[in-house]
Amino acid sequence: LGQQAGDRPLAGRRVLVTSGPTHEPIDPVRYIANRSSGRQGHAIAAAAAAAGAAVTLVSGPVALPDPPGVAVVRVETARQMLEAVEAALPADIAVFAAAVADWRPEQEAGSKKIKKDGTGPAPMPLVENPDILATIARLPVGRPPLVVGFAAETDTVVEHARAKIARKGCDLIVANDVSAEGGVMGGADNTVHLIRRDGAVETWPRLGKEEVARRLVAHVAGLLAG
Ligand code: CTP
Ligand code: CA
Repeated sequence: LGQQAGDRPLAGRRVLVTSGPTHEPIDPVRYIANRSSGRQGHAIAAAAAAAGAAVTLVSGPVALPDPPGVAVVRVETARQMLEAVEAALPADIAVFAAAVADWRPEQEAGSKKIKKDGTGPAPMPLVENPDILATIARLPVGRPPLVVGFAAETDTVVEHARAKIARKGCDLIVANDVSAEGGVMGGADNTVHLIRRDGAVETWPRLGKEEVARRLVAHVAGLLAG
């Protein structure tokens, strides 16, 4: 009470966010993963909650505290993340900020550690993980009205992101340059480009990840309202 609608533009809305990496076990002590601290995804979940939304955050393994006022579901693998995301629907807005491992070992990890035997590693066939964002963006029934993806790129960022938005069927892509010069990985700042489905691009200055999160939440709240 006493809150102005402008302070809580997502009041009554349900928001789903994925964050962090996924780990794809090779054996009990080894895994395949993408780099991700989870900082940007967790900041988005926190900002959406602060904007009044009921937020579910599906997070891979991260060394971050749970954002206040957010329902957190912790998972390890991409397949677990997809399952948790499906279980968290329906949502008005879904933001896929996780750095999902693209591949996993074809062979399910056993309970025994693989030992080095001096002959070099055995070949390890990989299979592609499900694309969580594309799966949800292309749901025939129950698709969230606003589906936002991220694109981590090291070169021709906007070009790659435009291709990604078409391939995945989402409404908006937040693209960032994760090349070494960008210093985004694990860092506090992010320089992002917002790419719409019609190809229009909005580039934001280098900002703290919390500020990127606040602006993104305000932006999607505006899209949903409009
Ligand atoms: N994503 C996902 N599930 C996957 C892979 C990616 O949900 N298995 C989502 C990410 O959360 C992000 C978007 O798709 O929102 C783009 O991820 P990115 O790694 O940049 O793109 P990929 O499609 O995996 O292509 P590549 O890594 O080859 O650039
Ligand atoms: Ca990827």
